Amino acid sequence: MDTQKKQNVIRICLGSSCYTRGNAENLKIIQQYVEGKKEIAATLDFRGHLCTENCSRGPVITINDETFEEVQTFQVEKILMEKLG
Ligand code: FES
Repeated sequence: MDTQKKQNVIRICLGSSCYTRGNAENLKIIQQYVEGKKEIAATLDFRGHLCTENCSRGPVITINDETFEEVQTFQVEKILMEKLG
């Protein structure tokens, strides 16, 4: 039986375009969400990264190999609930 907890991975683009167009706020929303979910926080690998040349489709956030583009702040919590629980 697999008793290992699933490790979730979040990557948020902190390049200047994504950051100024929403990821500054999205970053805070993710941090707040995770702080309230200790089981998720315990295994979460959450990091920022620099521009990946996808600015035209930003703000960009990747969760467990699924990339979300043009992420608006009002969408973040719903995405987290769907992907992390
Ligand atoms: S700043 Fe995010 S893809 Fe360029």
